[in-house]
Formats: sequence, structure tokens, C-alpha cells
Amino acid sequence: MLRVTETEHVDFSSELLSKFGEIVKRYPEGKHKAALLPILHLVQAEYGWLSPASMERVAGYLDLKPIEVYEVATFYTMFFLRPQGKYVLEVCRTGPCCLVGAEKIMEHLENKLGVKEGEVTADGQFSWRGVECLAACGMGPVLQIGPEYTFHENLTSESVDQLLVDLKNKDLSI
Ligand code: FES
Repeated sequence: MLRVTETEHVDFSSELLSKFGEIVKRYPEGKHKAALLPILHLVQAEYGWLSPASMERVAGYLDLKPIEVYEVATFYTMFFLRPQGKYVLEVCRTGPCCLVGAEKIMEHLENKLGVKEGEVTADGQFSWRGVECLAACGMGPVLQIGPEYTFHENLTSESVDQLLVDLKNKDLSI
């Protein structure tokens, strides 16, 4: 994954542009705006988040006003509007999961990683945030880990610690 800062200029690779082209071709003439969501997903997969510069480039590519891209990117919570860690741990914070300890899990993550919700650890590896219902309400507390979106249920502080160790070991083995 490439990393860009808040102000960095973004040049999309020819490979990425070719993927954009494939997506645009799926839609009828004049309906290219429909390609915006899948293209934003590709950009986020490439850079880890949607920087202002990358959104402006997308606007230029699709011949849209930048505000049209911002409107979409800010509406959907799956888009990150600031840099994230390599792994993003998303803990369900909706009622049923809170009843079985979701808030404790978030507190544990904050203490363990040493960063507040939405921040990135100093090594760039981790971010965490609370999200709405992840549709496993009977298995709470639950979290998912992006970018691969692995899913983990019945969490405890110990199982969260193990997940973090596994992610660190995974990187060492690559
Ligand atoms: Fe947590 Fe539904 S309330 S998964």
C-alpha cells in the first residue's frame, strides 16, 4: 500500500488508471458518475485513505466537481478521510455489543495501542475505531480488521491481545 500525506500530490499509476477505465466501461455513455464509488474503493485500497488530492484527481478523471466527490466520500463511513494504520480494528459499539463489553474492548485497545480512536500508532501499524452494528449481535463483542475485513467474535481483552500479536507476527513472516 502506498502512503500519502494530507497535502501530498497524487499521481495515479497506469495500472490503477486502467482499472478505473474498466469500471467506467461498465456504465452507459454519460453515466460515468456511477463509477465513483468503485473508483474511490480502489483509491482507498491503494493509499489506505482518501486524501484531498486523491479525491480531486478522481474528480478530474470523472469530470466531476471536487465537491461531488467529497459529498460521496464523507457520506459513507467506510471511506477514511485521514491516514489510517496498516490495520484498522473496527469494534461494534451498538447497544447489544455494549451490553456485553464492547466499551471495555475499545478502552483496552486505546490503552494497549496508546492511541485514541481514529489515531495511528507511531509505527504506522494500527488504528481503531467504534462502528455501528456489524450484524453479529449474538456474538458480541465483535470487531473486524481491515483492509482484509477478517471478523472476530466473543472478544475478551486476552483475545484482542492475541489478535494484535498475530497481526504483528504476520508482518514479520512476510
Ligand atoms: Fe454488535 Fe450488532 S450490536 S454486531
